[in-house]
Amino acid sequence: MKALIKKSIISTFFLLSFISIYSQDKNNSIRPGQIWPDNEGKHINAHGGGIIFYNDTYYWFGEYRLPRSENDKSRYGVSCYSSKDLLNWKNEGLALKVINDTSSLLITGCVIERPKVIYNKKTGKFIMWFHHELKGQGYKAALTGVAVSDNITGPYKYLHSLRPNAGTWPQNFGEENKKPKEGEANLKEWSEEWIKAVREGLLVRRDFTGGQMARDMTLFVEKDGKAFHIHSSEENMTLHFSELTDDYLGFTGKYFRVLPGDSNEAPAIFIMKGKYYMFTSGTTGWNPNPARLSVASKLTGEWKTIGNPCRGTEDENKITFGSQSTQILKVEGKKDAFIYMGDRWIPDNLADSRHIWLPIELENGVPVIRWYPGWDFKKLY
Ligand code: GAL
Repeated sequence: MKALIKKSIISTFFLLSFISIYSQDKNNSIRPGQIWPDNEGKHINAHGGGIIFYNDTYYWFGEYRLPRSENDKSRYGVSCYSSKDLLNWKNEGLALKVINDTSSLLITGCVIERPKVIYNKKTGKFIMWFHHELKGQGYKAALTGVAVSDNITGPYKYLHSLRPNAGTWPQNFGEENKKPKEGEANLKEWSEEWIKAVREGLLVRRDFTGGQMARDMTLFVEKDGKAFHIHSSEENMTLHFSELTDDYLGFTGKYFRVLPGDSNEAPAIFIMKGKYYMFTSGTTGWNPNPARLSVASKLTGEWKTIGNPCRGTEDENKITFGSQSTQILKVEGKKDAFIYMGDRWIPDNLADSRHIWLPIELENGVPVIRWYPGWDFKKLY
């Protein structure tokens, strides 16, 4: 009898230790700003990213950055992680990688930022778009690149990079704005007159032939399958909502200017209770600034900025809890459950940049975010 008790105590002890070791290895809550270990115990290296849900699994794509010591070459490609529960992520490796080929625009040293992947039901392919800057040219090129794969995790085949909508005018652009105005080329940048001229399409006219600039970006697929590429254009002063072709691999030439001259970056769009909402940031590079929330009744309709969605201290609100938006993620299987995904950039060691995920809450029917040092999905609707 004694032996039996001893045996069962020992086995209970081993079982408990196993459970405790096992649960220690698992992430049980979202801890914004902390190291977020993947299945190999390494901080998730997917920045400025986006998540899609496919086959009962979430796939997280983002900028893969090398550690500080190799920072000059830190722009390495696009990583992919998969998860069933949004807490524990498996590293699926690189979905797109820079290459050592001088004839390719994807050569090592180019900038790949804010990659997003969508699935095309008609072609059965996964399509990745990203902000692409050319090697050695800083942020001058303002291109968007596209890559395609039959498998969600890749490898993605790089097709090309371009400036969208060359030779076409925006859909919501007055006839009077299609002709250059006298003296506009000589206006002093950032002067009041220049900003007014930009609102009235100065830069759209400037870039009409070569194509419109495309920097910070996201993708949005409407219920009917129409997809839009949403990017900071016109020297980051105006967002362009550009319709993609049915195969999502190119632009139809139909595009809309949104919030002209308001300098929005980091767009992240979601639909909640029948309204379209968009989180954006201002334009202060890697430094965080106050987030802005805008609303519209349809994607290509009139957008209105309704203020800062942060509900923290004054200092926290000024810097969006130390983050910049990248996506508002819909949590599957729950009604109106969304997560704000942002990046807390660490410019001299981008790989170490932290993920700031916060639950979207409602205040008088309007989405807002609050800081929680640790939270789980009970916080979601
Ligand atoms: C930010 C942008 C980032 C990155 C950075 C470079 O404004 O959102 O994606 O481009 O500038 O300074």
